[in-house]
Amino acid sequence: MSDDELDLPAGVARRDFGDGPALATRGEPVYGEPTADGWRRWDPHRSKLGATIEKGLDTGLAADASVLYLGAANGTTVSHVADAAGPTYAVEFAPRSARDLLDVAEDRPTLFPLLKDARKPETYAHVVESGVDVLVQDVATRGQARVAVENARFLADDGRLVLAVKARSEDVTADPEDVFADALDDLREAYEVVARERLEPYHDDHLAVVAIPR
Ligand SMILES: C[S@@+](CC[C@H](N)C(=O)[O-])C[C@H]1O[C@@H](n2cnc3c(N)ncnc32)[C@H](O)[C@@H]1O
Repeated sequence: MSDDELDLPAGVARRDFGDGPALATRGEPVYGEPTADGWRRWDPHRSKLGATIEKGLDTGLAADASVLYLGAANGTTVSHVADAAGPTYAVEFAPRSARDLLDVAEDRPTLFPLLKDARKPETYAHVVESGVDVLVQDVATRGQARVAVENARFLADDGRLVLAVKARSEDVTADPEDVFADALDDLREAYEVVARERLEPYHDDHLAVVAIPR
């Protein structure tokens, strides 16, 4: 393992796909990403979680970690998560995206797609195991911090929230720093924030937040 791989979650590595070392996980390709020797590229420009890992934040992802992922879309990022981590529950409320997600899950026995609204955690509480190790949230909808607070019930006492706050989803006219300050305030109802980092150059006006339950 090279020095710059030491901080990566288990199951995530740096591999060369022809233009230098890049984040990668093992497994079958999903969205036309480059592959080499059984590894596939995890592009931080297409994945806020990938960018969060590139930025060096400790996401808590690990080989046996259980994950609840909110805002799975068509499975781009959650496929990498399911390939690197343990049981992965993927919540997405757009039927069209969820159809693609079902295809991604077909060959991944530990990926469980849920066509549900992340603002209504009671609708999937009977399916998702309690005490998950990592709660990833990328719903990019107004009230992003509130969704994280409402889903805190699923997280283990020593689990981690990994949230990407998209400033423009809250208020297109506000200064992103003001939006982030409000989101961090809202989060404090249920979490203690342990790390935060803006995601430029990968994603403009996004803040990655890692937090633990209070
Ligand atoms: C930025 S995209 C997610 C991209 C994805 N996480 C990835 O990296 O591959 C946000 C997704 O959240 C979904 N979404 C928005 N509000 C939601 C809600 N209340 N419940 C579930 N999904 C929601 C949208 O349909 C969209 O697919």
